[in-house]
Amino acid sequence: MLLHDDVIEEYRDFATYAAGDSPCFEEWALGVVGDEEVLGWLATLPPLKRQPNLVFAAARWHGAPAPGPYAGLRRVLLEQEPEVRATVLARATQTNEVGRLATLTPVLALVEGPLALVEVGASAGLCLFPDRYDYAWPPAGSLRGSGGSLLTATATGPLPVPHRHPEVAWRGGVDLNPLDVTDPDASAWLENLVWPEQDERRERLRSALEVARREPPSLRRGDLFDYLPGLLEDAAPHGTPVVLHSAVIAYLDEPGRRRFHDLMTGLVAGGRCRWISNEGRRVLPEVTGDREVPPGRFVTALDGVPVAWSHGHGHSLEWLA
Ligand SMILES: C[S@@+](CC[C@H](N)C(=O)[O-])C[C@H]1O[C@@H](n2cnc3c(N)ncnc32)[C@H](O)[C@@H]1O
Repeated sequence: MLLHDDVIEEYRDFATYAAGDSPCFEEWALGVVGDEEVLGWLATLPPLKRQPNLVFAAARWHGAPAPGPYAGLRRVLLEQEPEVRATVLARATQTNEVGRLATLTPVLALVEGPLALVEVGASAGLCLFPDRYDYAWPPAGSLRGSGGSLLTATATGPLPVPHRHPEVAWRGGVDLNPLDVTDPDASAWLENLVWPEQDERRERLRSALEVARREPPSLRRGDLFDYLPGLLEDAAPHGTPVVLHSAVIAYLDEPGRRRFHDLMTGLVAGGRCRWISNEGRRVLPEVTGDREVPPGRFVTALDGVPVAWSHGHGHSLEWLA
């Protein structure tokens, strides 16, 4: 059946993607691929809600042991079907990965401060605090002295190692569903989105939540197109407005992506803001251009011009000449 074929393909792809990072999720995804009953259940979900990350997170939320064998996932999906379905429908994958700051901070350092940061698709806003972390970019160098924890990205290419932390004078953002760092349920869901074996990411998330709780970011609830103009007006009196986003524009449809690119290009050309984008290589084709981007890398760009190919979670970056 066509519906099942789509789900099979999605889960098979995910197994490949997860291989190496999460043996548990790889096993779960392959288990789903060979399980007619579970496939049938997944096919009853709206297409955007069938994504493995969301289904696995919902199953873990309702007790599927992870890391753990596929049988545990299967039992929860089939025996607690109404609860898992409700969670899948009510929640989204809003993984907020503060590790990405290790690839964004060198770009922020290229912008004259003080900075007024406007993050679109901010999730809980954890990436709005680049000034609260230390950084190591082995072998190129490091930036320390923030008093915060260390974020590391292996660097290749002529990385201009920042000498100072960015001076952030203002921070704000927008998300369709901003997660409140002071809300235990939202924090627990964010933690639940971290893949089972990734204890280091879980630890990093916990400390990032602590950082954000000390000064909860001001996040608007709604669509980025509706709120971006107002956010820029609020930001401008405080410093150089910088619109930034990572792993967000993929959520827009094709016309939305084009509209966003045109909007940002116009804002930059009009001197209204600087623009730091960090998205998959096919998400903003006019930014990527005809450059060869290594598979699986994000294109990190300033004002629509690529400056680095980056690991999606910020583990490494290749600075472009
Ligand atoms: C994968 S998360 C990335 C979060 C954060 N940027 C990071 O790098 O950690 C994507 C976020 O984009 C938000 N989002 C998607 N489409 C949006 C839109 N049209 N307007 C505002 N936020 C949106 C989602 O709600 C989600 O929180």
